[in-house]
Amino acid sequence: MHAIYDELGGSDGVRTAVAVMYHRVVADPELAPWFEGIDVDRLQAHQRAFLAAAFGGPQVFSGRSIGEAHHGMAITDAAFDRVVASLMTALADLGVAKEAVGAVGERLEDLRADIVTA
Ligand code: HEM
Repeated sequence: MHAIYDELGGSDGVRTAVAVMYHRVVADPELAPWFEGIDVDRLQAHQRAFLAAAFGGPQVFSGRSIGEAHHGMAITDAAFDRVVASLMTALADLGVAKEAVGAVGERLEDLRADIVTA
């Protein structure tokens, strides 16, 4: 698929990255207003979609556009930064090379305008 996918060790590595990131996002008090009360399955689906977007993989989403999916959530720039940072930190912790982590950050940056509405 994509170089970073291989660098993570394929689907097992991606699963680990999803788990690590999931715990970071859920434990972050500043992100709680958005993620509180959303059930675990949906949250994990969110993280997989998030990673697919980050890695440039096939878009395996429910059909809604990224903008539609986040419509009316009043997501702030700061919240967007924290979610992206949680992924980048998780990838770095898992041993993904700095350049590849930076490339993920840039790819996600392209989605900011569709997601941030506050
Ligand atoms: C680049 C970053 C992001 C991507 C690629 C992404 C992707 C997605 C996708 C694809 C969905 C729809 C899932 C579905 O239709 O089943 C979704 C829903 C959602 N996103 Fe994001 N998201 C991003 C950033 C954020 C941020 C920054 C927040 C909050 C701070 C957020 C909070 C949510 C919430 C609460 C939902 C609804 C969950 C649900 O009820 O299913 N997302 N996101």
